[in-house]
Amino acid sequence: MKRTLGTCYYPEHWPRSIWEEDARRMVEAGLTWVRIGEFAWSQLEPSPNQYEFDWLDDAIEVLGRAGLKVVLGTPTATPPRWMVDRHPDMLAVDAQGRPRKFGSRRHYCFSHEGYKAECATMVAKLAERYGRNPHVAAWQTDNEFGCHDTTISYSEAARKAFQSWLRVRYPSDGNDGDIAALNQAWGNVFWSMVYDDFDQVDLPNLTVTEANPSHSLAFRLFSSDQVVAFNKLQVEIIRASSDAPITHNYMGRITDFDHFKVGEDLDIASWDSYPLGFLEDRVGADDERQRRFARQGDPDFQAFHHDLYRAVGRGRWWVMEQQPGPVNWAPYNPEPLPGMVRLWTWEAFAHGAEAVCYFRWRQSPMAQEQMHAGLLRPDSIAAPGLDEAIEVAKEISNAPDVAPLQSTVALLFDYDADAAWTVQPHGEGLSYFDLVFSQYRALRSLGLSVDILPTSCRDFDQYELIVAGGLVHMARELKLALANCAAEVFVGPRSGARTGDMRIPVPLPPDLPNFDVTVARVESLRPDMPVNLDGEGLIEGFREKLTGSVEVSIRSEDGSPVVMRSNHLSYVGSCLDLTGWRRLFRNACAKRNIAIVELPDAVRIRDTQTERFWFNSDPIAHDVDGMALPPISVTWQKMPVK
Ligand code: GAL
Repeated sequence: MKRTLGTCYYPEHWPRSIWEEDARRMVEAGLTWVRIGEFAWSQLEPSPNQYEFDWLDDAIEVLGRAGLKVVLGTPTATPPRWMVDRHPDMLAVDAQGRPRKFGSRRHYCFSHEGYKAECATMVAKLAERYGRNPHVAAWQTDNEFGCHDTTISYSEAARKAFQSWLRVRYPSDGNDGDIAALNQAWGNVFWSMVYDDFDQVDLPNLTVTEANPSHSLAFRLFSSDQVVAFNKLQVEIIRASSDAPITHNYMGRITDFDHFKVGEDLDIASWDSYPLGFLEDRVGADDERQRRFARQGDPDFQAFHHDLYRAVGRGRWWVMEQQPGPVNWAPYNPEPLPGMVRLWTWEAFAHGAEAVCYFRWRQSPMAQEQMHAGLLRPDSIAAPGLDEAIEVAKEISNAPDVAPLQSTVALLFDYDADAAWTVQPHGEGLSYFDLVFSQYRALRSLGLSVDILPTSCRDFDQYELIVAGGLVHMARELKLALANCAAEVFVGPRSGARTGDMRIPVPLPPDLPNFDVTVARVESLRPDMPVNLDGEGLIEGFREKLTGSVEVSIRSEDGSPVVMRSNHLSYVGSCLDLTGWRRLFRNACAKRNIAIVELPDAVRIRDTQTERFWFNSDPIAHDVDGMALPPISVTWQKMPVK
């Protein structure tokens, strides 16, 4: 596989007279890809059924003729103003029942049939016109599903669609659903919440106190399925007219729809990587860490998503938008340290990205993103990010083809589990993402390259170490597959804690095959009341009381079992701090002879089949395991490493 670079371009924002020059400079910089079109609906259909494609024909021709490959985005994230007049009820509705108005983007509800029909028409027009265009080498559906908290909508359209979805989830022998089955599954006898008919089931917002968690979970799973269906609608239309691969650009730490399910309909996964924005906005690091990495980004956050989206794309993935300088949307928006744009780009390649595209080509002098850097300044002078992109372009033009690594360490990730934690966190601030991310950070801090796997995986043959934390609902087949595989496996906390309908199962969790451990009780802990383990590490936030006859491998200081192990299977009954997870995984690696490298927190390793990459995000040099790592640097060695 060759590594390639690209950028995001908005020809409709710039005079026609500079398109050729822009295209020439992109090629000169060593870029291969240019993504266009994803917000251009008002320019493509300025009024209902009045289409204007000439400018896009021209733009594609200019870019293509210059030697660029075009990724064409469908413009469905920005329906024009007239659309809202046509379908006033297409707007998404927030949990307070307020419509989310026109004037920015993503102002649509995934369940609105009228809007979906409009999208189908627009996508068909584009696909028919450009499906065989030699310059259109890939497609992107919509833009960042779920961005700005838009997966969930409490609209009338969503209510109707939710009821239909429930009828299918709780089927009867006839054509309609079985409301008694729903009442039974959700336990609606509690607080007299029994329904007589699916038409009575409302959305779980604006209830007096919390809604039934079964109801809330069902609504989240439904909302996720609406995204899947919205994407699939577009994909099917594009495929009918084009053989070019189709992707969608996902985001960092957006977990409210099932990306694996969306990914099943796509050829390539891609995501939008804004390391500095994320650190301020969503990593969840403490102040000291935020300050320390303010100009570099968290050394594990991008990597986590690279590995996640490699799984979502079944091996094929890109970074569709890479931060090239300061962004505009985080609480604070510093400039990256020199060298970081290059480092982020190489990090993506080391994790197996086929392409990295910078957002955006030229900084916009207008509207919401005026303070967001591009590769060029608004006056077309090169911004610092461009030099680093050019440097990488030169480096990859001399690099050999690469093959991704088959890792021996795996971490399971499940969007339904995230929904279940969100519905029932049990303690303020407890989140599935934080649990999995801290496990990931611990593995990476030991120098390990990690595969992330969906919970539909049953074949664990290639793995030596598997981590399956927080999987609130676990299918019996998954439990069996993990129990029967040869790897060292860590399950828990909260794994198998609920049925798929969000009830406590009996026998009590985790109910693993031939494994006598029971979660007898759970408690959540204030952030200022961690519990010491008997040795290194802490319990933080969430703790289970474990009983059973299986050997206790780690106890808390007060003598209670925290980790219980039989053969190669361990159940972990608590959320641990980084030190605790590192201790567990370090011991497991020792048992399996998995080589580890203890890394400083700004240094990370990633292996491919041919190279070992070292990333140092510190402005100071490090010497690790005989490797001299200059400040802010990427260093690589040939595999196998001696
Ligand atoms: C992304 C989005 C882009 C742009 C960018 C700014 O989330 O896809 O359109 O808004 O953020 O950082």
